[in-house]
Amino acid sequence: MNHHRIPATVRQTYGAGDPATAAGSAGGFSNFGDWHGIDAAPPSPEDRIRSQEQLYRRVLGTLPGPAERLRLAEVGCGLGSGAALALREFRFAAVTGVDIHPDQVERARAVNSRALATFPDRLAYTLGAADELPFPDGSLDGVFSVEAAQQFRGLTGFAHEAARVLKPGGRLAVATFLSAPGAEVAERLSILLAGFADGLDVAHPLDAFTADLAEAGFVDVAAESIGADVWPGLDGYLADTLPPGHWRRNFHAAWTSGLLDYHLVTADRP
Ligand SMILES: C[S@@+](CC[C@H](N)C(=O)[O-])C[C@H]1O[C@@H](n2cnc3c(N)ncnc32)[C@H](O)[C@@H]1O
Repeated sequence: MNHHRIPATVRQTYGAGDPATAAGSAGGFSNFGDWHGIDAAPPSPEDRIRSQEQLYRRVLGTLPGPAERLRLAEVGCGLGSGAALALREFRFAAVTGVDIHPDQVERARAVNSRALATFPDRLAYTLGAADELPFPDGSLDGVFSVEAAQQFRGLTGFAHEAARVLKPGGRLAVATFLSAPGAEVAERLSILLAGFADGLDVAHPLDAFTADLAEAGFVDVAAESIGADVWPGLDGYLADTLPPGHWRRNFHAAWTSGLLDYHLVTADRP
């Protein structure tokens, strides 16, 4: 894979400074979390970690069993803690975490060195891009992705690659924030959120993604809105950890104004 294909903002964000150590992140994850049932006010750093683990569990729970037979890939694995959780808790046959950033792949291997030693043939982290997945045709039972697809430049290539690497009957499960339709939405998101303004995040409309999946040959494409489990809880945590007015707190406003929502999208390869 060509190093130069990494978008500049992605290369910078996950380069020298590790974003998982930034304010608002915790526990070797880098996602907003599923806060369902986490009610402490204010939430603790342990609650923050639990929210991120819960988001993984929610995504992984959509993959049809028996788990011990499933060979999976995670696209945009970041620090790899989610792939390790998948193996530890769900006991899948094998999980390979893929990330476009070589520093993230290196971090994932370091953070999860014990899990790698425990499951030498079942856990791996490797360099790869969403639109050029490092797997043969029809070789996987499941592909999942947690809060990474908003950074893919386009979702058409990802949809085709996921369809290519899945076996017949395989499932794709993607959790991320996707935008509402409409020409002005991307611009309004850029005004509210620095991530969209500087190009780290891309406004992908949900309906365009589900259309891409259908066009790539997936069936039973389904999208569940889970924003209510993500942003109120996250905002309660950030209120305590970020300075007032920090742009990250605007995600909550972007959600309440209907500009974006957090979705869990699943699709089956016939
Ligand atoms: C917000 S982090 C999420 C990490 C992890 N899934 C988690 O929930 O903790 C997004 C990750 O996606 C990776 N990424 C961005 N664009 C990608 C692409 N086109 N292909 C593969 N990985 C990508 C980034 O390098 C980063 O590690």
